[in-house]
Amino acid sequence: MNETILVTGGAGYIGSHAVKQLVNAGYDVIVIDNLSTGHIDAVDKKAKLVIGDVRDLGLLDTIFSRNNIAGVMQFAGKIIVPESVSHPLSYFDDNFTAVISILRAMRKYDCKNIVFSSTAAVYGSSDSPAIKEDAPLHPESPYGFSKLAAEHLICDCEKAYGIKHCIFRYFNVAGASEDGSIGEAHPVETHLIPVTVNAALTGRPMQIFGNDYQTRDGTNLRDYIHVLDLADAHVLGMKMLLSGGKSEIINLGSENGYTNKEIVETVGAVTSHPVNWTYGPRRPGDADSIVASNEKAKQILGWKPTRDLKCMIESDVNWRNKHPKLYGRTLNKLTSDQKKQLLIYRSSNHAKALYEEIETKDQERLEKLIKANRF
Ligand SMILES: NC(=O)c1ccc[n+]([C@@H]2O[C@H](COP(=O)([O-])OP(=O)(O)OC[C@H]3O[C@@H](n4cnc5c(N)ncnc54)[C@H](O)[C@@H]3O)[C@@H](O)[C@H]2O)c1
Repeated sequence: MNETILVTGGAGYIGSHAVKQLVNAGYDVIVIDNLSTGHIDAVDKKAKLVIGDVRDLGLLDTIFSRNNIAGVMQFAGKIIVPESVSHPLSYFDDNFTAVISILRAMRKYDCKNIVFSSTAAVYGSSDSPAIKEDAPLHPESPYGFSKLAAEHLICDCEKAYGIKHCIFRYFNVAGASEDGSIGEAHPVETHLIPVTVNAALTGRPMQIFGNDYQTRDGTNLRDYIHVLDLADAHVLGMKMLLSGGKSEIINLGSENGYTNKEIVETVGAVTSHPVNWTYGPRRPGDADSIVASNEKAKQILGWKPTRDLKCMIESDVNWRNKHPKLYGRTLNKLTSDQKKQLLIYRSSNHAKALYEEIETKDQERLEKLIKANRF
């Protein structure tokens, strides 16, 4: 029988590509997604979908009690750094509380393997040539802190409950599936490649922020990898854990990096539409260059990126050309296949059972106190 993997946030950009690769690798996949930024059409038809929130303990209790979940891939979360500065509570709730919930369910149902989406934002700005996993951690935003807090909790849960992890710190991700069926469709797009492709396809103007950085052409240099390379790494990470491998924290990057100007020029060349761009002012906090060392990923997983910048841009353009409205469908218009794909689960009444004993005792003690004192 195939092993079952629960993918949180599997209707989102990266999660949906990972779901496709997991399905192709022969796993049974269940997605849980609240569709806050995800899309039902992004979920591979061979995966099952629970529309719901990872923070809903009762729902997790139902999912885990009805399915033998061998491992969890946690993509669910919020991702926009400036938004996290204005809404830290919401970011900690989605990126940290959600991880508490999933770990509670894993503990109760003895699920021992988690692959977790983390980010280069845990390192903060750095001008080191290629960032290694043991580089100093100093997040500069609530987003980065929420991810680092989740990383720490996941590591603590290994010590306490033996839940093993593969934590991936991504740098910049771009591209779409080879057949152009799924791709990047964030409701608010802040990532340079889709922003530039959109500018090329629509003729709208865009800016490159700053041209006096210490890089080969004066514009910021960042490390990009193709979403399919990223998804491949996740499947390898899960396989490693399922086959008894130990916990790891691994960067996923290319070690090369491209400058903002190179991205804009490559988009212009690939689309044959000159991009209408100008230089804008520097943005506060932008480091000259951020590149990941991928030595550890090669060593532990035998993984290295195989798709270059041109491939990322071509696949993104292909996806946008095939889907000018990206994912336009609403929940009222599900296809019959999609209706079959849905797992309609109710939140169980046993959510309390996911709490640790000490918490249950605390609750009992409080109830007794309230009763005795008639508060
Ligand atoms: N996109 C990048 O370049 C990038 C870079 C570094 C790290 N990451 C990390 O990768 C992960 C996925 O990023 P993405 O670009 O695919 O984002 P995304 O917004 O496309 O996907 C996130 C998914 O999670 C779902 N979701 C959010 N909160 C939820 C909740 N409480 N319960 C259930 N579902 C919930 C959303 O509906 C969405 O489908 C994030 O955790 C992010 O921190 C992304």
